[in-house]
Amino acid sequence: KKQYRIAVIPGDGIGKEVMPEGLRVLEAAAKKHGVSLHFDHFDFSSWEYYEKHGQMMPDDWKEKIGKHDAIYFGAVGWPAKIPDHVSLWGSLIKFRREFDQYVNLRPVRLMPGVPSPLAGRKPGDIDFWVVRENTEGEYSSVGGRMFPDTDREFVTQQTVMTRVGVDRILKFAFELAQSRPKKHLTSATKSNGISITMPYWDERVEAMAKKFPGVKWDKYHIDILTANFVLHPDWFDVVVGSNLFGDILSDLGPACTGTIGIAPSGNINPEGDFPSVFEPVHGSAPDIAGQGIANPIGAIWSGAMMLEHLGEKVAGKSIVDAIERTLAERTLRTKDLGGNADTTACGKAVADMVD
Ligand code: NAD
Ligand code: IPM
Ligand code: MN
Repeated sequence: KKQYRIAVIPGDGIGKEVMPEGLRVLEAAAKKHGVSLHFDHFDFSSWEYYEKHGQMMPDDWKEKIGKHDAIYFGAVGWPAKIPDHVSLWGSLIKFRREFDQYVNLRPVRLMPGVPSPLAGRKPGDIDFWVVRENTEGEYSSVGGRMFPDTDREFVTQQTVMTRVGVDRILKFAFELAQSRPKKHLTSATKSNGISITMPYWDERVEAMAKKFPGVKWDKYHIDILTANFVLHPDWFDVVVGSNLFGDILSDLGPACTGTIGIAPSGNINPEGDFPSVFEPVHGSAPDIAGQGIANPIGAIWSGAMMLEHLGEKVAGKSIVDAIERTLAERTLRTKDLGGNADTTACGKAVADMVD
């Protein structure tokens, strides 16, 4: 039987609080379903590591985690100690780029019993996937600062869209749409104002759509798309967008399902040349870190996505089912969902419900 080797990186803030719950639930599901998981723990990608070593990760980070079957990640960023762009470009964004994890896959689902902030919305009304381009686009290192500290000072940062990069994320999104009952894809764009890169994206969508005649598709400018997320979340099935637009939509979508604290994600290298990273959508939440009140469901659900990615579909689904049963009980929910369970109580509840 195959043993999966998982690199575990809790990172900063509530990353350290939600990861033990994610591991607790993974262990419960692995035991129930006869899956063998081996965890290797790493302390880098945290402000403490940075303070000791002057960098976010060891020089040989790729050797340390590049051979694992998957990487299970908490969150990174502690702006009181390190500027965010330094810690993020020194860790998470490096994983995404150097491991060519060009898909950031982020499900958005209203769970039974959980109140949506959108009045009258029931489970089933909000059930879609955000497919975010994860290696290029607006997150670019092309640009710079000229004439610093003078009144001629200016800064630029160019959006980079490569044909390969745009086509591969669109192909992934169309394939996902094709596999779903609704077979519907929405493209997020802004080709009225951003007049070179966004029309290019639209053009590639049109070309890719021809290869997927069974998929119905539409496109919206990002401004009205955000409005429609709130007004008509039931319109969406698979929503594909550039790095920045996908980032924004994958906080807004989960907010419409009650909290960003339950949202999971996979940073996926579909070819399997490199390990994929599974992590909650949320960050290190300095405002609540250390209080033991963080919602662990985002991390736990990310663990389920990791098992599914590894091919352990039954074990993965058992976790998602346990999450649904847990969230259905108000007293087992954390504070962000109107409950009074702490992080550990919520994690234990999910682990107990796994079957
Ligand atoms: P955040 O996601 O950390 O927090 C936003 C708000 O949501 C906060 O009020 C927080 O308390 C709340 N929240 C987040 N997760 C929650 C949970 N599990 N349970 C309950 N409430 C939760 O975003 P931010 O405040 O913009 O960023 C904080 C730090 O995290 C920054 O350093 C940022 O760069 C970093 N960040 C990292 C990641 C990542 O590692 N993938 C993602 C987003 C932000
Ligand atoms: C996310 C985060 C990151 C992103 C930040 C922390 C760089 O917001 O994973 O959604 O923008 O990708
Ligand atoms: Mn984000």
